[in-house]
Amino acid sequence: MKIQQNIPLKNYNTFGISVIAKRFITVTSVYELQQLLKTEKNFFLVSGGSNMLLTKDIETLVIHIDIKGISIDREDDNAVYLTVNAGENWHEFVLYCISNNYGGIENLSLIPGTVGTCPIQNIGAYGVEVKNVITKVEGLEIKTGKLVTFSNKDCNFGYRNSIFKNSHKAKIILTSVGFKLTKKDHKLNTSYGAIETELTSKNIARPTLKDVSDAVIAIRKSKLPDPKEIGNSGSFFKNPVISKKQFLELQKEHPNMPNYPVSSIEVKVPAGWLVEQSGFKGKRFGDAGVHEKQALVLVNYGNASGEEIYQLAQKIQETVFNNFRISLEIEVNVIQ
Ligand code: EPU
Repeated sequence: MKIQQNIPLKNYNTFGISVIAKRFITVTSVYELQQLLKTEKNFFLVSGGSNMLLTKDIETLVIHIDIKGISIDREDDNAVYLTVNAGENWHEFVLYCISNNYGGIENLSLIPGTVGTCPIQNIGAYGVEVKNVITKVEGLEIKTGKLVTFSNKDCNFGYRNSIFKNSHKAKIILTSVGFKLTKKDHKLNTSYGAIETELTSKNIARPTLKDVSDAVIAIRKSKLPDPKEIGNSGSFFKNPVISKKQFLELQKEHPNMPNYPVSSIEVKVPAGWLVEQSGFKGKRFGDAGVHEKQALVLVNYGNASGEEIYQLAQKIQETVFNNFRISLEIEVNVIQ
């Protein structure tokens, strides 16, 4: 464990933003992290770097969490209980589960990032959220260096939300996540339109976990840019929830506005649609842009600075607000 000086962070964030860490260290065990916390009080964490927009050099110590390992705690005929360390790559973990016939996260295939960050924003896609299969989350309390365990309920999960984004923000470093996955009678979730279409086109009537995963991978590849090719952080904004009253007003002008009921008085509207209707889809400003196939994804074509991407995001928020009176909330962590 050695602190390095002036390390470029381009390869540590999926937006591919070139900023410098003045001091940088990779940590590969909970013990190492505990030792480090005894002396270092100010630091900045990176893991998969898939949900952050860096806008300037980082002056404090950057700690790269690279704690690896998957263990089976117990299993019976129906379910397996696993503990997975924070530094494991999320998609590789999904593939491991599929090859072992463990069900529950196949719809979350190909999401960038690590296992340790999946609970923070409760990653979700194609009708499934990771909160459905999380049993516990473990982390180090920064103040005391003690390992603490949170039950699923403690995490207070919501849509792209948890206590780790709110009351426990900057208080805990997540070190592992526990999952309960099915070993038989998998509850496949194929109701999402695009998954059904993909399976039907392949004549698959009784899909396996792998069939669902393959369908999700095909859909994501067709719509979402691969961060290895074009820098991005997935959905940049959350899908906003508006009042039914406002929705009905807007629908008069925009009869094709997609919408999903949230409650009897609230409606969720896809941010991607709002951004596209505001004319930004596929637009490019220097190396900062809006993806041509999914307007919810901001991209770095090469050398955009974090500040340029952030300015574009603000321009989009402003235009969408002027057009629809809807405030788009940024989903990605903007580091300023
Ligand atoms: N839409 C447009 N234009 C666009 C993009 C979308 O009109 O450019 C419309 C679509 O036609 C559709 C609706 O918006 O009617 C929804 O689009 P889509 O199914 O692509 O999903 P989304 O709501 O845009 C959410 C998640 C994604 C997740 C997909 C699939 C959020 C913020 N995003 O996107 O998550 O993969 O559903 O479940 O909830 C991520 O968080 O990084 C992410 C990619």
